[in-house]
Amino acid sequence: MKAFTRKMQLGQFKDDPRYLKTVRQLLESQAYRESMAAHLFGHALKYVPELRYKKVVASQIAEELEHYEDTVKLYGGLGGNLEALVTDQLATGKKQVPLAESWLELGVAQFLFDRAGEFQLSLYRNCSYSPYARIVGKILEEEEEHEGFGEQVVKQFCKDKRKRPLAQKFFNKWFGVSLLSFGRPDSAANRYAVRVGLKNKESGEVMQDYINDIKPVMRECGLKFPPKNRIGAELPKGIDLAL
Ligand SMILES: [Fe+2]
Ligand SMILES: [Fe+2]
Repeated sequence: MKAFTRKMQLGQFKDDPRYLKTVRQLLESQAYRESMAAHLFGHALKYVPELRYKKVVASQIAEELEHYEDTVKLYGGLGGNLEALVTDQLATGKKQVPLAESWLELGVAQFLFDRAGEFQLSLYRNCSYSPYARIVGKILEEEEEHEGFGEQVVKQFCKDKRKRPLAQKFFNKWFGVSLLSFGRPDSAANRYAVRVGLKNKESGEVMQDYINDIKPVMRECGLKFPPKNRIGAELPKGIDLAL
């Protein structure tokens, strides 16, 4: 019944310019995030201390580039050059890639940023635009490994309480960057995407799910949320940041 409903939705909306524009926008956002992750990991490879970990990060770079390629191919099918768009955004500074400058910072970035990417993508697991739903499943499995790897690095560092203030500094930077992955909460574009079955929840709801998911690690590592006015991302009303 669900599949039938989705087919109906796609049949109903596939010629709607707003529907296709929204699909393009979500692919553009994802392509930027995937290419950003590849650049972030690539830049930080020199800080990774052991060969075995360097090999893990190197394979994650290749996976991020494949995720990026998946979005480029899908976008090409809709009649556009997404690689050219992302390259231009990065070259002209319209979009920036925040970088990690230490092994701990890479761990914090993966723990927060890859996890946000996973939560954001999980909204599209049953996307009414079925070609997108197909690539999302494969990407999600790989993102879970990336965020788990980062989480282990952060936990290991934070066993030493003297390193916790540094972990907190990186947390404050990457928490805001990660929340930007979800887009603006409470927007008309959000409500439209849910209404036509492109995603299954609005941004504000998935932000809370993500925040709830990182809390146990934060408690274990002695990390705190930065003050709301210093997070650097718009939060939905009533967000629960209690630890
Ligand atoms: Fe990815
Ligand atoms: Fe990733």
